[in-house]
Amino acid sequence: MEIFKDPALFQKRMLELKRAGKSIAIVPTMGYLHDGHASLIDNARPRADVLVVSIFVNPTQFGPTEDLQSYPRDFNRDCTICANHGTDIIFAPDAELMYAPDRSVWVEETCLSRGLCGKDRPTHFRGVTTVVAKLFLLSQADIAVFGQKDAQQALVIRRMVRDLNFPIEIVISPLIRDTDGVAMSSRNTYLSAAERERARILNQSLTAATAALRAGEPVEAVQQKTLSAITERADRVDYVAFLDSETLEPANAATGEILIALAAVFGHTRLIDNTLVRRPE
Ligand code: PAF
Repeated sequence: MEIFKDPALFQKRMLELKRAGKSIAIVPTMGYLHDGHASLIDNARPRADVLVVSIFVNPTQFGPTEDLQSYPRDFNRDCTICANHGTDIIFAPDAELMYAPDRSVWVEETCLSRGLCGKDRPTHFRGVTTVVAKLFLLSQADIAVFGQKDAQQALVIRRMVRDLNFPIEIVISPLIRDTDGVAMSSRNTYLSAAERERARILNQSLTAATAALRAGEPVEAVQQKTLSAITERADRVDYVAFLDSETLEPANAATGEILIALAAVFGHTRLIDNTLVRRPE
């Protein structure tokens, strides 16, 4: 497995591979890899000749009061996981090499990124789209795999690829849960045992809401019940949203597939979760 820290050397190597006719897949991550990331890597592995995993805690997607400094990191463990899942190349750049001190160009999506997490984290998605665009250009990838766990991020990246004509296929991999139902996330490590127990309400209420929608209950009533259940167990609820899964407009009786998206805080940890529901015709 090759490891690159310098973006220029990484891009040079990727261009060599491209010119040699190799297809390339990338799994962008911020490291501290868990089974959710491993499932993305496994999904990407058979899709290309060369599999790249990027590991970069991207400073531009963190707000000034967010956990950039304390974000969990374990590079050696990440390397072992990547090697065990068939990764060919790790790209783990230094932040100073990724961003020039006088940088002045951003890639920004201005519609899908505004609601949900974009409301509480107004500069977050601009940081994500900028770094992902850089990773696509540096890696020369033909395919990139992201997780459905970050449903809004997936839609924003798809929109960026469509609107800027990136020659890359975006694959969205299913959300992976721990045995207690909590969606896998590097930030779960911040939860105490008691907070984690309370955090199970996210998956429990997604399951209940899915059943209620499939049974034909109206969206507004199900949304209200979901909000009450989560409010009882969380320290703060940021959103309980029932949206059209493509446009992120509020779901209504005519909406085909509904995205139920949740964000809530347990202790000091903000967790997100979601599911997709297709109602019976
Ligand atoms: O989903 C993540 O881990 C990050 O937002 C990403 C896509 C790697 C960009 O930094």
